[in-house]
Amino acid sequence: MAPLASRLFLVAALALALLPAFSAAAKARYTGVLSFGDSLADTGNELARTGGGAASVPPYGETFFGRPTGRSSDGRLVLDFIVAALGMSYPKPYFAGEAAADFQRGVNFAFSGSTALGPEFFKSRGLTPFVPLSLANQTAWFKKVLQLAGSVHEQRKLTSKSLVMMGEIGINDYLVALMAKRTGEEVRTFVPHIVGAISSLLTEVIGAGARTVVVRGMIPLGCQPIFLVLLEGTGADHGRETGCLTWLNDLAKLHNRALMRMVSDLRRAHPGRAILYADQYSPVAAIVRSPRKYGFGDRPLVACCGGSGTYNFTLTTFCGVPGVAACADPSKYVSWDGIHMTDAANRNVAGAVLRSTILRQPLDKVELASS
Ligand SMILES: *[C@@H]1O[C@H](CO)[C@@H](O)[C@H](O)[C@H]1NC(C)=O
Ligand SMILES: *[C@@H]1O[C@H](CO)[C@@H](O)[C@H](O)[C@H]1NC(C)=O
Repeated sequence: MAPLASRLFLVAALALALLPAFSAAAKARYTGVLSFGDSLADTGNELARTGGGAASVPPYGETFFGRPTGRSSDGRLVLDFIVAALGMSYPKPYFAGEAAADFQRGVNFAFSGSTALGPEFFKSRGLTPFVPLSLANQTAWFKKVLQLAGSVHEQRKLTSKSLVMMGEIGINDYLVALMAKRTGEEVRTFVPHIVGAISSLLTEVIGAGARTVVVRGMIPLGCQPIFLVLLEGTGADHGRETGCLTWLNDLAKLHNRALMRMVSDLRRAHPGRAILYADQYSPVAAIVRSPRKYGFGDRPLVACCGGSGTYNFTLTTFCGVPGVAACADPSKYVSWDGIHMTDAANRNVAGAVLRSTILRQPLDKVELASS
């Protein structure tokens, strides 16, 4: 690694090394995290609710937890790294708790397969989502937790002292349409609807007293094995440098620009709150462009665990299916199962998210009201 250590890597390592010093201050600042999203942030909801799910079997969890926990990775998710770096407990998956006491140290509403948009939207387009769960459901679950908290005073205590982590969400909305062979032109029309759904949820959460909100952006969709396989043979343009699908990365960028505009609008509407956009596109794109620089192997578009073919991924043999193997060293891979990233990649993205948002905030911006 040493001869390849770049300046960027050193900066990243330095920032991670500084995290423990920051933790003590942050620990007092937030009692926990309130998280919303899909399988990129689901730390056990699908497993708790259904007793199963794609990430409920080995080798999921093999690198860090040593057992499947419902997390779609070999180890920790971006959310886990952020929570740990800030000295907080892992949030309770909503479906793994019952009483107010269960949710005092944070709640995770993210659910695998969840879309941003509701069933009416998909129905109007002649589409069917993978699971009938959307941000409207996650909003309803959030309100349930508020009710459990009790009085308005108790509710505000919970929301104002929580760090709200929103997203990524929207991948499944796009995937549902692309699996049904819809065109890029049609899929692009989803962007304002998805961003609108995110904005509605955040408006509820901020209205309920949340003071610090981090909106996590879309990853480079065109560099994910599942999309590469799905669109193989369609003649879509691959970037010369990376091999990623250009138009899908453009869709992710379009999505992120709309998110950033939405974040500015929310800021204007809610002065005094810290509403931050976290770029998750650049850190993943940087690894894919120069994987060795970040300690990864030479093939950042190939899944560690999955089927065969160019990307070690097929639409029928997923990671976790009996007979489907994982690579020997997941830390050399960006993609764990073709859809979700490895513990190693997630660590990198978490560092970037922290550096660009929470750690960069002047302390008075993230300081809580003393009430
Ligand atoms: C999700 O929301 C829909 C309405 O959009 C509702 O019919 C359904 O029962 C909800 N599911 C859960 C598990 O909350
Ligand atoms: C593909 O996955 C297998 C395990 O199923 C692994 O041994 C192999 O190294 C992977 N191929 C590439 C090119 O990464």
